Amino acid sequence: MNLADHTIVTINGQEYLGEPNGNLLELLRSEEIEVPDVCYHPNLGPLQTCDTCIVEVDGELQRACGTTIEAGMQVNTTIEDAKIAQKLAMDEIMSNHELYCTVCDYNNGTCEIHNSVRDLGIEHQDKPFETKPYEVDNSGSFYRYDPNQCILCGRCVEACQDLEVNETLLIDWDREQPRVIWDNDVPIDQSSCVNCGQCVTACPCNALMEKSMLGEAGYLTGPQPGTLRSMIEFTKKVETGYGSLMAISDSEAKMREDRIEKTKTVCTYCGVGCSFDVWTKGRKVLKVQPQAESPANGMATCVKGKFGWDYVNSEERLTKPLIREGDHFRETEWEEAIPYVARRFQEIKDKEGADALGFVATSKETNEESYLTQKFARQVIGTNNVDNCSRYCQSPATKGLFRTVGYGGDSGTADDIAKAELIITIGSNTAEAHPVIASKIKRAQKLHGHKLFVFDLRKHEMAERADKFMSPTPGTDLVWLQAVTKYILDQGWEDKDFLQNWVNGLEEYKQSLEGYTLEYAQSVTGISEDTLIEVAETIHESESVAICWAMGVTQQKNGSDTSTAISNLLLVTGNYGRPGVGAYPLRGHNNVQGASDFGSMPDCFPGYQSTEDDEVRARYEKAWGVELKKERGRDNHQMVEAIHKGELKSLWIQGEEMGIVDANANHVQAAFEKLDFFVVQDLFLSKTAEFADVVLPSVPSLEKDGTFVNTERRIQRLYRALDPTGDAKPDWVIISMLAKEMGFDWGYSHPSEIMDEVASLTPLFAGVSYERLEGYNSLQWPVHADGTDEPVLFVESFPFDDGKAKLYPVEFIEPVGVDEEFDLHINNGRILEHFHEGNMTYKSEGITRKTPYCWIEVSPELAKDRGIKSGSFVRIISESGSVKGHVTVTDRVQGKELYIPMNDNNELAINKLTNSDVDWATNTPAYKDTRAKMKVISVEGEDPIPHNNHRRGNRQPQISVHVEKKWARDDYVFPGERVRAHGKANNKH
Ligand code: SF4
Ligand code: SF4
Ligand code: SF4
Ligand code: FES
Repeated sequence: MNLADHTIVTINGQEYLGEPNGNLLELLRSEEIEVPDVCYHPNLGPLQTCDTCIVEVDGELQRACGTTIEAGMQVNTTIEDAKIAQKLAMDEIMSNHELYCTVCDYNNGTCEIHNSVRDLGIEHQDKPFETKPYEVDNSGSFYRYDPNQCILCGRCVEACQDLEVNETLLIDWDREQPRVIWDNDVPIDQSSCVNCGQCVTACPCNALMEKSMLGEAGYLTGPQPGTLRSMIEFTKKVETGYGSLMAISDSEAKMREDRIEKTKTVCTYCGVGCSFDVWTKGRKVLKVQPQAESPANGMATCVKGKFGWDYVNSEERLTKPLIREGDHFRETEWEEAIPYVARRFQEIKDKEGADALGFVATSKETNEESYLTQKFARQVIGTNNVDNCSRYCQSPATKGLFRTVGYGGDSGTADDIAKAELIITIGSNTAEAHPVIASKIKRAQKLHGHKLFVFDLRKHEMAERADKFMSPTPGTDLVWLQAVTKYILDQGWEDKDFLQNWVNGLEEYKQSLEGYTLEYAQSVTGISEDTLIEVAETIHESESVAICWAMGVTQQKNGSDTSTAISNLLLVTGNYGRPGVGAYPLRGHNNVQGASDFGSMPDCFPGYQSTEDDEVRARYEKAWGVELKKERGRDNHQMVEAIHKGELKSLWIQGEEMGIVDANANHVQAAFEKLDFFVVQDLFLSKTAEFADVVLPSVPSLEKDGTFVNTERRIQRLYRALDPTGDAKPDWVIISMLAKEMGFDWGYSHPSEIMDEVASLTPLFAGVSYERLEGYNSLQWPVHADGTDEPVLFVESFPFDDGKAKLYPVEFIEPVGVDEEFDLHINNGRILEHFHEGNMTYKSEGITRKTPYCWIEVSPELAKDRGIKSGSFVRIISESGSVKGHVTVTDRVQGKELYIPMNDNNELAINKLTNSDVDWATNTPAYKDTRAKMKVISVEGEDPIPHNNHRRGNRQPQISVHVEKKWARDDYVFPGERVRAHGKANNKH
């Protein structure tokens, strides 16, 4: 932006350049001109509820945060009237909030009230504090609300309504004593609150606090119940005037720094990649505090990242290596375990050849650990039999993008999705699987009118909110995508310039669409021709389109082809290479992107460099000092089949619950039983580990350093917050120990050295270093040698030889579908609060209290037909196996469609039903293409979704906090008005 695009504003006699139509408070903050701003948070924007930011603008006293800057504006922040008005506003705040800072768990240097009282030099308050006629609400699992400390700033409401967009919170301004309410005034625990914790993060004081902080943060804050009040009275007596109270409590807060560690980390659950500070005292996790500068999430989190850390201190953590002895395990030391594993690997390699061993990395490991896993397989063992769990979800999306645009990752940032005029989601339960990205989409729709089209089998939250919800026949997305693309081409609506300049293969591609008429699409997908035309028209009319997709697309027999069809559609309509457009395969696990990026793949070195490329191989051979195998190795699916065939004798699985999460679990577990030697590395004795010969205890993300790559291709550092538990070790240490035992002493002393090696060998990461990733800094690959990265891909060109993308023809493959006997289609996927099979989240007491079980969703029609109801206990039987569980009847599903969440690893474990069919191009299991039949075991039973689950709540949507209602109250007078009404000179309130 050049000078002419700015607005000149005079502040305290000096000229400043502001954004046209910018906010005055934001300009003051950016220029570091101090005014109090208690209700302001950069992620929330101006709320205008606290009145503390009053300044003089062109002679009038007004809220800086409610002022849009205009050319020539004269602003005075130092004039006495403004200061008096600010103090009046603070007085009002203090009448709602008792200052007992020294014994307050929130007094950690960040309390906005404390800091404003101190900075304004307030000694006394004129309007005394008055308690309100409300009890503290302690009903929830994770946080509590104290109405007596609530200053009614509405930050929490804004966070809930317009940032999280869960629409639970309101301030009821109509009561004599306004307060925050949940839904239509129910206790927290009975509300629609999803426990994302954003209101708690947003609260500027102790009115909303994490329960884990209470009685823990301060030196004087942990007394027995009942004594807090006497402590408060005591401190008030000894601290005369707020100056001394502030001084004492500031020193106390300073002392807290010695025992509370604040460590930046990255969430270990989903692929959104939220980053935050984790506050720890000893091994206790006191709280998770996202920061405005957290690049993927700002102040946002979901329940798992904010509150789901109990598993780290679980009694069930493995603390020592285990070696099988008959039908039980014996604890041992590393000194025995490592040589034992090394010897067995060597024996099998010597006897059966290197390809008789296989290695599976996990997306829970860091990038550095994925790199070492494949280095171990290739250099130490000599095989390309190495893969990671993206095989179970995301490989098809990567394949589709490599075919068409050359990079297998999201085209832009999550903010680019929100910028798109039209956002389409396909087979993605975004609000539950990628909650923070979903919030960005919901916000874009709610506040900025962006359109949301949802294609999914199930009417989940995003479908309910969608401007248009389409529910195609299972497994047929490719058909409507091709039909819509053909219609766009037939109408001449394609982006001709873009195609001409940037895309190859148009003619051949057009021919491939020949049969994909609207009529055909309607007959296959069940979506009407009119609807398909409307979809095509909306795409055509939208300046920018972003398409997000997830496992509903990828976990099909044609997952790669459907992903390709999505990318083709985006190419035809010119929706690549600029902000606010593109392809967004929403990656499931925290590091599922990085696990592949850093080389745990059977056909690629890190950075997707083919093992068959002689130049690439020569580079790694030189660096690693061994000859490397050229031919593709086995992927996860092929490893299981090879075990059954007797070709693969040994497997080392790191952190994957493969025996539960791979499709056709019985078949996979049967394979484990056939292995000669099976090593599992994990935090817990998982179902998979129960089959192992050796179990090696590893550590979770909080106990190690490293980096993750989120769905945006964003590389972020995590720092060690806790020491490893017992004798458990980070995976990179364990892999290095084994390599050394087998003759390769890598000598890494810190993961940064591993990253340096990756950068030196991998063009995609050439400029990545720990220094460049310090703190909240992040880099979105490709990262060039000079450290520049590419938040938006394809701005200059596509990474093919001629710089052009490729339209890639694909054909529809019929899904298995249902038949007379197996007449029900089984859909499955995540739920918000439990991650995957729940090995980590069930360790959270709070999460399990709200969501103790898995369930089977049945449509009202089917329930009626089978004579069952919510609570009925049924058996579901497929060709692969059977499960049993309790039914919940819901219109989220329709007809003969069942939905079984994946958060069970026992009787309702979904993969006892799924079969061994795979996406033909990547071998990703076709989890979503499962059919079954139902047998009713008992009609009566308990509904598996408890009454205090958020799904039972009653949302109350509104935009922002409705501050106008506050201003309209009889007891409200704008402080600026009070000051001026009393005259400038003699007002000394
Ligand atoms: S959903 Fe619950 S935790 Fe999240 S902002 Fe709303 S009230 Fe707070
Ligand atoms: S509870 Fe809400 S309204 Fe009350 S002080 Fe906290 S953020 Fe402000
Ligand atoms: S699970 Fe995903 S959305 Fe939730 S906090 Fe973690 S990264 Fe963010
Ligand atoms: S910051 Fe402006 S009214 Fe609160």
